Amino acid sequence: MISRRPLIAGNWKMYTTIPEATSLAASLADKLSGVMDRDIAVAPPFTVLSAVGKVLSGSNIWLSAQNVCWEEKGAYTGEISPVMLKETGCRVVIVGHSERRHIFHESNALINKRLMGALQYGLVPIFCIGETLAEREKNLTFTVLEKQAQEGLSGVALSDPAGLVVAYEPVWAIGTGKTATEKQAEEVHAFVRGLLDRLFTKDIASHIRILYGGSVNPKNVDVLMAQENVDGVLVGGASLTAESFVRIVRYQ
Ligand code: PGA
Repeated sequence: MISRRPLIAGNWKMYTTIPEATSLAASLADKLSGVMDRDIAVAPPFTVLSAVGKVLSGSNIWLSAQNVCWEEKGAYTGEISPVMLKETGCRVVIVGHSERRHIFHESNALINKRLMGALQYGLVPIFCIGETLAEREKNLTFTVLEKQAQEGLSGVALSDPAGLVVAYEPVWAIGTGKTATEKQAEEVHAFVRGLLDRLFTKDIASHIRILYGGSVNPKNVDVLMAQENVDGVLVGGASLTAESFVRIVRYQ
């Protein structure tokens, strides 16, 4: 069995003011300082990246952004460049989150540009894919994921599997309290690994981390993490308090 280093990532979405964010980050840095056998990341909003970056500097928690533009600079009102993110201490960035796809209508083509920009400037993208409830009910889950992966990863040449993380986040499970069962998650993760296998090489695909996201909490994390192809979790709501995120990072 191939061992992939687990990655537990918290997506703070549009939550946390500067005092809230720095205090949460300080508490996580303190409580998680001894965790050495897994990777940990948090993705605060843009406005607090610098402040959180300072708090986390020297810690074992990676700083992540929630989105990224593909250009270094230019006339892109409302966007943030990969170089600007790196300046705050970011090494990871979420790309293609379902809220970007569904609320802000980001297409696979746009997400692909963002992902390429991240890679070009040495940020590790957490590339999110996932089907809606209507698509699942019409048995379109695999078709949708295949299209998202093919178009989102188009033109990506990967020599190091640590340079890309994929997150499977069924839209119907995000923020709803409905989690995919561990069986549903494993079934899709194995399918996604097969997709990566076709897009890259078997060796690269077998080492790329595939995270599960969607209502992950301290109660369901252990069983999800026990699945062969679940290599980590992307956590929204339950990453906003130190107590629950620490327990998730310390899954057994
Ligand atoms: P949730 O969000 O854990 O609150 O469902 C997950 C995500 O959106 O990444």
